[in-house]
Amino acid sequence: MTQGIFITFEGPDGAGKTTVLQELLPRLTALGKQVTTTREPGGVAIAEDIRSVILNPQNTAMDDKTELLLYIAARRQHLKERILPALESGQLLLVDRFIDSSVAYQGFGRGLDIEAIEWLNQYATDGLKPDLTLYFDIDVEEGLARIARNADRDIDRLDMEALDMHERVRAGYLALLDKESERIVKIDASKTLEEVVEAAFTAICDRFFK
Ligand code: TYD
Repeated sequence: MTQGIFITFEGPDGAGKTTVLQELLPRLTALGKQVTTTREPGGVAIAEDIRSVILNPQNTAMDDKTELLLYIAARRQHLKERILPALESGQLLLVDRFIDSSVAYQGFGRGLDIEAIEWLNQYATDGLKPDLTLYFDIDVEEGLARIARNADRDIDRLDMEALDMHERVRAGYLALLDKESERIVKIDASKTLEEVVEAAFTAICDRFFK
C-alpha cells in the first residue's frame, strides 16, 4: 500500500507552514515527483463541511470533546478519500496538519487526555503515521502578529483563543518533537520565507531523495 511518501506539516497558528507547502510544490515537481497537497480539517467535501462547523466563530458553545471528535471524524473521512488513494498511487503527499494537531491543540491546548487522543487518532487512521513531519516552530506572539497582519486570512474560532492556549499548543509540539525525534523535524519558522522553504526542501530531500 505505501508506495507513496507521506509528509505532514505542523505548527502553531501563523507559523507559515501553509505558504511554505505551496512554495515547495513547484520545487518538488521539478525533481520529477508526482506531488499531491491537501489539508486538515477538510480536503474532501464531507470533511470541509465538518471544518466549517468546527471553525465557525459563532460556535462559542462547542464543548472541547465535541471539537476533538469532529476533528477526528474529519480526519477519518479525509484519510479514506484522499490520503490512502494518494499513497496507493505512489504520490508524494504533503498534508497540512494531521494527528499531531489533535495532540497539540486538543491535548496540550485544551487539556484533554493525551492517551485518549492517541487512541482516537490510531482508531481514525488505522495506525497510519506520516513518514516525515515538518514542525514549523515560531514564537507564539510572533505567529499571532503574522495572522493579524495577513489581511487575506480570516480569523477562525481557534485563532481567537487566549495567548496561554497558544503557548500550551507550542509546548505540546515541542514535547512531541522530543518524543518522536526520528519522525518529526523542527524547522525554524522565524526566518525569512526563502530560508524556511529552503530548510523544508532540504529536510525532505535529505530524508527521501539522497
Ligand atoms: P487552519 O485555517 O487550517 O489553520 P492554519 O492555517 O493555521 O493551519 O485552521 C485549522 C485550525 O484547526 C488551527 O487553528 C488548528 C486547529 N486544529 C486543531 O485544533 N486540531 C486538529 O486536529 C486540527 C487538524 C486542527
